Amino acid sequence: MRRTIDWDGDAVTIIDQTALPTDYRVLRLTSVDELIDAIRRLAVRGAPALGAAGALGVVLAAREGGDVPVAARRVATARPTAVNLSWGVARALAKLDQGGAAVLAEALEILDEDERLNRAASAHAAQILLEVCPRRPLRLLSHCNAGHLATVAWGSALGVVWHLHERGLVESVLVDETRPLLQGGRLTAWELAQAGVPYRVQPDGAAAAAMARGLVDCVLVGADRIAANGDVANKIGTYGLAVVAHHHRVPLIVVAPSSTVDTALASGAEIAIEERAPEELRMFGGAAITPPDADVFNPAFDVTPAELISAVVTEHGRYRPPDHPSSL
Ligand code: MRU
Repeated sequence: MRRTIDWDGDAVTIIDQTALPTDYRVLRLTSVDELIDAIRRLAVRGAPALGAAGALGVVLAAREGGDVPVAARRVATARPTAVNLSWGVARALAKLDQGGAAVLAEALEILDEDERLNRAASAHAAQILLEVCPRRPLRLLSHCNAGHLATVAWGSALGVVWHLHERGLVESVLVDETRPLLQGGRLTAWELAQAGVPYRVQPDGAAAAAMARGLVDCVLVGADRIAANGDVANKIGTYGLAVVAHHHRVPLIVVAPSSTVDTALASGAEIAIEERAPEELRMFGGAAITPPDADVFNPAFDVTPAELISAVVTEHGRYRPPDHPSSL
């Protein structure tokens, strides 16, 4: 599969994630405004992919001229929760005094290292999972999309599935559809189908029943920001999954590149949570599904406390916050 986000020598290219699974199309983004719009519409999304988008945003800003740091700040703040976005911007911006070529080289380096780091993080996580889950083959549960499409390539939490599938160890994956924007039902299911991994899509509300019936050996999720104490912000619904998994003694493993760890924040309470437009809940497939002016609570992410997480895993192995040892 081509990279989710790339540089074609003149423009940013992205696989348009608003069109999948019905249409596979590639968009070319030639300006900072187009990139910001794509980030806000979730045409490009997922924390590691947003890191690459941040860096490439600085490349576009440098080519446009004008006040590059101001444009870079607009990119960095296009979405607030995934720390990778501002991390990617900061890395590329730090090269600005060396000129546009140095900015581009740094952005390309971020693109190149993304797959390597995700492969390493997911390999570590696969090993931990095999140590704590005795059943073979494995029945896994995924929330949102933490696959190839959420990264430049390979994926984080779904990368674990790829490693295990290569070894014939996956029976099936239960895919939370992930309301309201269905990144699970649209994107994760599409990736699993492409890879030939057996899966079933379920409504988010079925996850507790699946665990109560003993159908899940391990929950695998990605992360948008990991605080110093190991609290994790991820797609809305992850916290509920973690509570249920804890109740049923099902391990929940978080997989992310270390660029998602934000040691500047002591705990998850400090993480800014994006609130999205009410229309995402009022409408479905172009039709109204609530009274037109229904009040809406639409946070895109929630925070799962470290004590509910079995392991947070990066390319360096398990992340162990000093005062909050994980339960595995
Ligand atoms: O709103 P999104 O689709 O950008 O949210 C994405 C997630 O919450 C992912 O689980 C997270 O970014 C990890 S992706 C490897």
